[in-house]
Amino acid sequence: MKIIAVISQKGGAGKTTLALHLATASAHAGYNTAIIDLDPQASAAKWSDRRAEEVPVVISAHASRLGHELERVKESGGELVILDTAPHSDSTALEAAKVADLVLVPCRPAILDLEAITNTLDLVHAVNGNVHVVMNAVAAQGNEAAEAAEAIGGLNVSVCPVQLVNRVAFSRALISGQTAQEFEPDGKAAAEAEALHTFMCAHLERSAQRGAA
Ligand SMILES: Nc1ncnc2c1ncn2[C@@H]1O[C@H](COP(=O)(O)OP(=O)(O)OP(=O)(O)O)[C@@H](O)[C@H]1O
Ligand SMILES: [Mg+2]
Repeated sequence: MKIIAVISQKGGAGKTTLALHLATASAHAGYNTAIIDLDPQASAAKWSDRRAEEVPVVISAHASRLGHELERVKESGGELVILDTAPHSDSTALEAAKVADLVLVPCRPAILDLEAITNTLDLVHAVNGNVHVVMNAVAAQGNEAAEAAEAIGGLNVSVCPVQLVNRVAFSRALISGQTAQEFEPDGKAAAEAEALHTFMCAHLERSAQRGAA
């Protein structure tokens, strides 16, 4: 069972958006997928309440119960788990980063987000070396994302080649418990979410091959 942790100490960076879109893409690809929502705001769990489809399963849990919940998901045949985490909680972020095969750190290309990202990266790097920053909600046009990615590149962390643009479909879809892929399957947001899922799968595959070698 593979575990992805979506972590950012900054509120509103896009943790839940990434977690929901990746988990749904994975469920649609046929993997037994669960989200463990470690945020007391329970945004992912509330999204699931609004959702008609039963997959991906969303489990609300306190970080202190993470090991137990992971064991339960594994026993029930879970293949992929996405951990949605809380902002401003070092302990939750640490617990999630420790168990993850891959950590994704969403970051908006705004100065306050870029300044704040070092806190998250310091914390995650202490326990997990497999970290990618995902630029989120970038402007559809202009150099903003490239400049931000360059600034982050100087922090000695990998920047994901896939970025999510600031698109209405990403937020509108969540209202009805959907994702962009379901809300507007032929839209650009859907294509970006799928590309991010493909990146995640390829990365997990490469790590598994390295582990087996
Ligand atoms: N790429 C995007 N395009 C448009 N809206 C977005 C995008 N990413 C996130 N949003 C919107 O920004 C808001 C914050 O996103 P989200 O809830 O995913 O962040 P978060 O990091 O989980 O926040 P929190 O720290 O409060 O848990 C939401 O309203 C979401 O719909
Ligand atoms: Mg959230």
